[in-house]
Amino acid sequence: MTTTEPADASPHTQPGWWADRVGYQVYLPSFADGDGDGWGDLTGLRQRLDHLAWLGVDLVWLSPINPSPMADHGYDVADYCAVHPRLGTLADVDALLAEARDRGIAVLLDLVPNHTSVEHPWFQRARASRDDPYRDYYHWGDPAPDGGPPNNWVSVFGGPAWTFEPATGQYYLHLYAPEQPDLNWDNPAVAREFDAILRFWLDRGVAGFRIDVAHALKKAPGLPDQPEVPAAQQPARLDGRAADHYAIEHVHDREQPGLRDLHRRWRAVAEPYGALLLGEVYILDPQRLATYLRDQDGLHTGFWFGLVESEWDPAHLAAQLRAAEVTGPHLAWVQSSHDRRRAPTRYGGGQMGRRRALTLAVLTLGLPALPVLYQGDELGLEDGHVPPQAYQDPLARRTGGALSRDPARTPMPWEPGERLGFTDAEQAWLPWGGRTDADTVAVQRADPGSPLWAYRRLVALRGALSGLRGGPVRWHATTPPVVAYVRGDVLVAGNLEAHAATLALPAGRWTVRLRTQGSGAVEPDDVVEGALSLPGEHAAILQREVAAGEG
Ligand code: GLC
Repeated sequence: MTTTEPADASPHTQPGWWADRVGYQVYLPSFADGDGDGWGDLTGLRQRLDHLAWLGVDLVWLSPINPSPMADHGYDVADYCAVHPRLGTLADVDALLAEARDRGIAVLLDLVPNHTSVEHPWFQRARASRDDPYRDYYHWGDPAPDGGPPNNWVSVFGGPAWTFEPATGQYYLHLYAPEQPDLNWDNPAVAREFDAILRFWLDRGVAGFRIDVAHALKKAPGLPDQPEVPAAQQPARLDGRAADHYAIEHVHDREQPGLRDLHRRWRAVAEPYGALLLGEVYILDPQRLATYLRDQDGLHTGFWFGLVESEWDPAHLAAQLRAAEVTGPHLAWVQSSHDRRRAPTRYGGGQMGRRRALTLAVLTLGLPALPVLYQGDELGLEDGHVPPQAYQDPLARRTGGALSRDPARTPMPWEPGERLGFTDAEQAWLPWGGRTDADTVAVQRADPGSPLWAYRRLVALRGALSGLRGGPVRWHATTPPVVAYVRGDVLVAGNLEAHAATLALPAGRWTVRLRTQGSGAVEPDDVVEGALSLPGEHAAILQREVAAGEG
């Protein structure tokens, strides 16, 4: 269908309509290229919507689609109410929304409110004159007495979080790349601009927003220096942040008072549309994350990055799964994203990495709130191979190639062949990544033992088992690191240890609805009672049989 009629304004009127959905992150530049220029785009996504429908996911989060000089591949927005010509047009957005809706898929856009591009007209005005009304849309500071930056803040991508603007003799703040000046959320005019931006897209029928950097929009008044952290005490490093980012304690540039008021303000805008606000609240302490979600007056849900930041460490992973208890049923579960190494790579690679990622996927798919797959998770993809000279990521540029998010962003492998069915162009914007035929959607679809079929079965089961809807999670007393919980009549169990384990089952007869088998899954439907044996690093989903006379 190719209609370009705008979608109905509010297709998502049931409160909490997302609760039973399974999300999927489309990193648009690398998903599918519809016009042969080597970049993924909206046409390519529309052509591949049937893959998502077949997989069974029903909520898609699209990485930024706005005009952008692509200094951070769309996370540097030059116009919030338009579409990057390389990615498509507003008419393509309308068509995508309609075609997705026909398949029961809701579409979230990525809202980037912490910073704009240097090419945004607001910043162009702001940088030209200290007296321009747009000056105060951003954070400016006088040089320190030695001419250096106004304070000791360090960018996530490394180096000072300030860049000098010679035309007006002051520095501007950027928590990320210099091409991404931070907006000043203490200025009410900025908040009003964003109310209008939200409404612009909600009126077109988008189902909500994934909100970028939702933890750091507010900064401490006066932008004071942050405490320095001696090298020996610096926290464990995350692979998406430069090393010098950890040399200071980030007490003044994130989780500031007033942040929740911004989230509440957006909630008020979103509510009449029934739209979903999914925050990238990068907080690895579940208690602190909970403060943004518990009252349900701001963000509806927030990503939990406990798994994304983990290697294969069974006890640690089990603890990250239990984090849901303090945060309540409001987490979006992810194992991979465009910002970190892919889960199978972090878990040791090869069949082992795939198997481990699938085991954790089973464990998260039964939990409340929203599981979100990253494109290629369903294929068990490891990181693509990208030689350092081909790095595109600003993080790579700022860290001299020490870190790069490019390997998680190589083109989606659709079909065997040189160009992976991704594009007709000779080259894609990133290297192909060294994918094999067995990595592709086409080959995996023909093989019921593939990861693709395993994820499809899993997604379908989440929809089919009513026990996984709404009910509370009761964690089953197990010997770690077997992790198990019961919801309604369903028991979900995963053995995170390498050796086989036996799990004592609650009373009754249980039908095994799904068992992982290597990096695939089967639906044996056999009945077990008393105990379940699980091979090392495998998982299963069981449903309690209703005894005669019951139910
Ligand atoms: C978020 C995005 C990341 C981007 C950064 C700055 O963390 O996921 O890709 O670089 O924000 O916008």
